[in-house]
Amino acid sequence: MPILTVMPLNKAVEVQAGTTLLQALLSASILAPHKCEGQAKCGTCHLFVHDGRKTLVRIQKLENDKLDTLVGVGSKSRLACQAVMGNENVTIELLGFSSGF
Ligand code: FES
Repeated sequence: MPILTVMPLNKAVEVQAGTTLLQALLSASILAPHKCEGQAKCGTCHLFVHDGRKTLVRIQKLENDKLDTLVGVGSKSRLACQAVMGNENVTIELLGFSSGF
């Protein structure tokens, strides 16, 4: 299975292809913000994808429209609730994440 590496926690988890990044994070007990519960409405799950962007399912209109409304969006931006794992490894950076670890 592909590996999802989560920065700045430096945590690596195996993720089945077809899983959203948000599902993968929550399954790994990484409490990424997700106020709208994955509806692409809140933008709190915004993160950067540093490696493996091409293996993720492409950005759809719903995600693109939400990203357009957020501050600090760049070419590496994705919404964790909309980005779906493919078959290759991915490295992400959580933004505004207070872990408490
Ligand atoms: S959880 Fe709200 S946009 Fe992803």
